[in-house]
Amino acid sequence: MSAGGIGNIKHVLVIGSGAMGSQIGMVAALAGYRVSVQDIAEDMLTRAKEQLAGRMQANVAKGKTSAEDAEAALGRLAFTTDLDAAAADADFVIEAATERLDIKQQIFERLGRLAPAHAILTTNSSTLGSSKVAEASGRPEQVCNMHFFNPALVMKCVEVVRHERTSDATVETTLELARRFGKEPVLINREIPGFVANRLMGAIQKEALALHSAGIASLEDIDTTAKTALGHPMGPFELMDMVGLDVIQFIAEATYAETGDDADRPHPAIADLVAQGKLGRKTGQGWYNYE
Ligand code: CAA
Repeated sequence: MSAGGIGNIKHVLVIGSGAMGSQIGMVAALAGYRVSVQDIAEDMLTRAKEQLAGRMQANVAKGKTSAEDAEAALGRLAFTTDLDAAAADADFVIEAATERLDIKQQIFERLGRLAPAHAILTTNSSTLGSSKVAEASGRPEQVCNMHFFNPALVMKCVEVVRHERTSDATVETTLELARRFGKEPVLINREIPGFVANRLMGAIQKEALALHSAGIASLEDIDTTAKTALGHPMGPFELMDMVGLDVIQFIAEATYAETGDDADRPHPAIADLVAQGKLGRKTGQGWYNYE
């Protein structure tokens, strides 16, 4: 098998319709691709559809896009629970399902059987390197990570991470597709926990947590400093709340499992908030109260 080139890509399949999957699907549809967003949960698909329609309406109201273009992009976007049918003619797959290895391996095994031979299979995972799902697909050279950032409609970076057996053709096509999505992809040549962006984010978060738990400054003042002294768009605590404290904890756990480095252990303050169900913006409470 060998990876199809960029010209082969007409139909993009995104698996998972959560915050990441739904916006990645919209990004692809806005770039002119026919897109299927697949999820096992019908209610997730309904919510994704409504949220994206709302985002497009806001863009039209702001004059960022014409009503015709927004309608055309939404028209290129199909929502389905039927993975087998959607995979059968998918030229490029971006898996953004639950961060569980067993689930991802099952998905990649199915994709390997169902997707056309030229299809490239990628995962948006920030913690699981694609080598962990590549063999299950039966076409490891056509597998890599394509990691987007939250909110995917806005953030320019896409990390393309190759594993040992990813072919150059797969890397080139994935980088080019990201560019056609209007992104600025970066290539990561070797799988390491957290890739590049989450390692940078983690370093800042670790320091912010240490400063806060030592009583050096309030979380508001630490966030303000990141914004006014360093020009970050959000402070580290605001960012954790946006990403989701459960996700932050999961990233730390996955990193620690790979490195065994005590410095990578999830911070107890985050574990406390997660145990209380305070996951950040999505639950109305995290470091800050949004209710
Ligand atoms: N979805 C889609 N669009 C959104 C959005 C969302 N959730 N939130 C904001 N936007 C859009 C707004 O509509 C607005 O668009 P226009 O320019 O067209 O008006 C634009 O983003 C700017 O928004 P705001 O003016 O409301 O607010 P802002 O200037 O503070 O920007 C932000 C919001 C883009 C989120 C900005 O604060 C930011 O860049 N924050 C840092 C985000 C970040 O670091 N993300 C990476 C997280 S780590 C990750 O994702 C990796 C992982 O593996 C966990």
